[in-house]
Amino acid sequence: MAFPPSFIDELVARNPIEDVVGQYVNLKRSGGNMFGLCPFHGEKTASFSVAPDKGIYYCFGCHKGGGAINFMMEIEGLSYPDAVRALAKRAGMAVPEDEQYQSRYRAQERLWALMKEAGRFFHQQLYSPVGAECLAYVNKRGLSKSIVTHFGIGFAPNSWNALVDAMRKKGYTDQELKDADLVGEKNGRIYDRFRNRLMFPIIDVRGNVIGFGGRVLDDSTPKYLNTSETMIFNKRKNLFGLNFAKKSKLGYLILVEGNIDVVALHQYGFDCAVASLGTSLTEEHAALLSRYTEKVVLTYDSDEAGQRAAQRAIPMLEKAGIQVKVLQMKDAKDPDEFLKKFGADRFKLLLEDSANRVEYQLNAILKKYNITEDDQRIAFIHEAAELISTLGSAVQREVYGNRVAEAGKITPEAMKLEIGKAYKRRIAREKKRQEKIDLEPVKALQPKSRTIRYDNMKSAMAEEGIIALAMREPALLDSAKGLTDENFSVPLLGRVYGQMLARHHQALEVSLAVLEDLNPEEMSHIAGICQRQQGPVNEEAFRDCVRIVMGAAQKKNVESDDDLLALRNKLKESKGTK
Ligand code: UTP
Ligand code: MN
Repeated sequence: MAFPPSFIDELVARNPIEDVVGQYVNLKRSGGNMFGLCPFHGEKTASFSVAPDKGIYYCFGCHKGGGAINFMMEIEGLSYPDAVRALAKRAGMAVPEDEQYQSRYRAQERLWALMKEAGRFFHQQLYSPVGAECLAYVNKRGLSKSIVTHFGIGFAPNSWNALVDAMRKKGYTDQELKDADLVGEKNGRIYDRFRNRLMFPIIDVRGNVIGFGGRVLDDSTPKYLNTSETMIFNKRKNLFGLNFAKKSKLGYLILVEGNIDVVALHQYGFDCAVASLGTSLTEEHAALLSRYTEKVVLTYDSDEAGQRAAQRAIPMLEKAGIQVKVLQMKDAKDPDEFLKKFGADRFKLLLEDSANRVEYQLNAILKKYNITEDDQRIAFIHEAAELISTLGSAVQREVYGNRVAEAGKITPEAMKLEIGKAYKRRIAREKKRQEKIDLEPVKALQPKSRTIRYDNMKSAMAEEGIIALAMREPALLDSAKGLTDENFSVPLLGRVYGQMLARHHQALEVSLAVLEDLNPEEMSHIAGICQRQQGPVNEEAFRDCVRIVMGAAQKKNVESDDDLLALRNKLKESKGTK
């Protein structure tokens, strides 16, 4: 399939993982491995590892991993064939092109072109007679003509076939319209999905139109219709407005809830505003943001839902290494309304005034209690102490502790004691949790991934051992006589074993980087298995593993946890930190 295996072997050999990753990550050697800051989830301490001898990378923090090809796919957002092309170019190799893959890439390019055409169509409709009502709405909402042009805002006519007809005329097929999620289908006929809506094109950081958000012109529901997942669009990984905001000179990004808020902020000069696309913020969003800024000002709606969303977003952004501030609005529900009511200068004051997240969270706690009453005042101090006890810096703990002491009318010393107690309570809780995990290895050993489950833990551990060891020393596969992929209890591991065996028998390279047909999650899982396996290659352990897998396949039994721990010890796992 795809590219010839021998070509891929050479490609991988000529693109050492440490060089490929080294273009993006500053790596430091530590024993046989190299470590650096993970480019995928943003972090302060290095948990991203590269193993030159195994040809893999793996992050012990976010559990992403794979070979050189996966790395390029992940970091540049490339498809498999494009990642191969990029690496070939890097190594100065000619690429044997394959019909099928070429057409897959072409399909993507066609969708980008189609979305761009659709955006152009919607934009034109806004200024045509059918768009009059929508244009009036745009004016009523105070959007300037130049900002409408800048964002390519448009109008989807109130028709079942306006877009379909226009795009067919441009040569796009019904299938392409379906693939782009621009149409619905009934009784074999397709029809415009977006009708009578104000259209916001969603543009990725590379400048491609990848989706649309369409807002109704009145109070009907659903208020927004968005492109659902397509070959080129994933709302969990993209942010509205980031294509412009990434070029902002302001030095921070403003994260808001609504598309309209983004557009209004840009219109008023805050060209650093972005919004998540009708979903709550994801870790992928946070990682994406951290590629462009170290500072985010959260400006969510002032209603309860908005404030809850802000509380959720704070830890996610901080984990990505972003400094978070929270802007709070009074007398307006969102930035759009605020700007229209009070203007840009007042908003700028709010920005300068925006609290860092600790102040914000302390305020939120304060609001919950009526501290003129003693019991509520005590509850306030308790909860505030809990929050402050999580802060890493002693200076911060003292500054905020003193502030709470003042508000709660107690001495700074008493507050300090309270924070100390809260700290101990938390440590004790964490210890208890850890102990529980240690006592339940079967649960703790379950893969981190959501889609991969281990039903027979002992067999699964042995299967992991086989893969990890044979990946390092393929000759071991010769001593696995009689073991087939069907003996594996975990289908994914069986598939990988099957591929390894086939390659070994054809005297081809056996390594993680050359595995085929694995999705990113599966690839990361296998990389994790390989990267956790440390120490010398142990033949005896390998044969033990083979025996266990074959035994389990015959008996389908579940063994005790004791055996499991013994096996784990034999396989000498590293926990992965330096
Ligand atoms: P809002 O309701 O705040 O929308 O939802 P808005 O864009 O600020 O519009 P106005 O100010 O009410 O006119 C915030 C965001 O949530 C998503 C959209 O991306 C919207 O911009 N959303 C909202 C949906 O995806 N679907 C919905 O039904 C509502
Ligand atoms: Mn809004």
